[in-house]
Amino acid sequence: MGVRSKHAAVGAAVHGGTDAALQCKQGHVLAFAAPVREIPMPQLAQRMRRAKPSAIMLIAEKAKALQAAGRDIISFSIGVPNFLPGPHVYEAAARALQHDSGQYGSNRGSNALLDAFLAHLAQAGMSGYTRENLSTGVGAKHILYNLAEALLEEGDEIAFPTPYWTSYLDIAEIVGAKVKLLPCPPAQGYKLTPQQLDAALTPATRVFMFNNPSNPTGMVYTRAEIAALAEVLARKPDTWIITDDIYHRMVFDGLGYHNFVQFQPQLRERLVFVDSLSKTYGMPGWRVGFMAGPKAVASAVTTLNSNHITNIPEITTAAAIAALSGPQDVTVRQVEDFAHRRDRVHAALVAIPGISCPRPQGAFYAFPDVSAFFGKRCGDTVIGDDVAFCAALLDSKGVACVPGSAFGEPRALRISYTCPAAQLQPGLERIAAFCAELR
Ligand SMILES: Cc1ncc(COP(=O)(O)O)c(C=O)c1O
Repeated sequence: MGVRSKHAAVGAAVHGGTDAALQCKQGHVLAFAAPVREIPMPQLAQRMRRAKPSAIMLIAEKAKALQAAGRDIISFSIGVPNFLPGPHVYEAAARALQHDSGQYGSNRGSNALLDAFLAHLAQAGMSGYTRENLSTGVGAKHILYNLAEALLEEGDEIAFPTPYWTSYLDIAEIVGAKVKLLPCPPAQGYKLTPQQLDAALTPATRVFMFNNPSNPTGMVYTRAEIAALAEVLARKPDTWIITDDIYHRMVFDGLGYHNFVQFQPQLRERLVFVDSLSKTYGMPGWRVGFMAGPKAVASAVTTLNSNHITNIPEITTAAAIAALSGPQDVTVRQVEDFAHRRDRVHAALVAIPGISCPRPQGAFYAFPDVSAFFGKRCGDTVIGDDVAFCAALLDSKGVACVPGSAFGEPRALRISYTCPAAQLQPGLERIAAFCAELR
């Protein structure tokens, strides 16, 4: 504390108390007035200078505010599923309430939850793990944060493809890691090539972060592509691999899900698979995430849990077990629906002159390249970049999308197509009308 106090910021205002508050005629407190004196205040930790609020949430909040002000808004911005879990999940939670132990639980996750996740892993073709290879967290984001703490020293290098999910960059920056971006432009179908990976990973690369299917692009790597990347990874023994594959059940066109360890089993020694209930089971608010990987990593994540969350709550655990082990029909139906929506969204986007969009094959996102419109005008406003494009689209047509720069690809924007079904077509038509009006 002593060192920080020496560099303490001056600026905290100490107020004289409620008697110093100014009150208007109706009695509402307007502001605090004198006496105010400035006192030294300890500073926030350096890492908080690197921490930023999520860009996606900022857009979603703006869309909500416009809606609250009476505007007709269609939101393609936030990446949440549009469905709730099946009734068996709620029944399991209700039953658990009847038998609540009221106690702390396991830092790793209850045995029943770990066993349910092992069965779920096996269904994804990821067998051969035991409870000791697993840990749990408050969503995949928490697991990823724990992994960054467990695997990265300050200044260590983490490499990942662009476009990336926003939190990879934010988390890396909070822990002080050095980020190496591997650009995967639209012309490359937003996918990483083995040659790129080979050139990028050096003995100094501590972590390679991979996401399949991808948020924000919806792209899915084929079996052959994963095999080719795995062959490169097998030759990079100094690098941990994290596969954030929380959308692995949301794959279309019979493409299937594939992981590097299925082609290079020795990668198990340094690969961590991350999963979550949020998207697959329509449970983002329940906050349950998982990891499967080397025992040392699972233990490290469990130790971190013991120092912050302690455990996944008992009621949530019961719901999570039911989601993983119960009927999967809700998920299956939703994935079929998303595949149909993908067809409509993709067809509508590529029909717009100037837009190109690699065809997504999973998750519920499309990531059209709109850079052909940069430099055009919407009324008096020049559309200089993706942020200006999204702002003008929201202002003039009431459609909220996330600028691609939030994902490291400023030529594009992200469309999340989980809006209410009746809004999908009008939303797409508004985007087409907007593009047609740009001059
Ligand atoms: C690729 C990816 N990883 C992780 C997460 C975080 O998921 P969770 O809700 O389990 O924290 C998201 C959420 O949008 C995501 O898209």
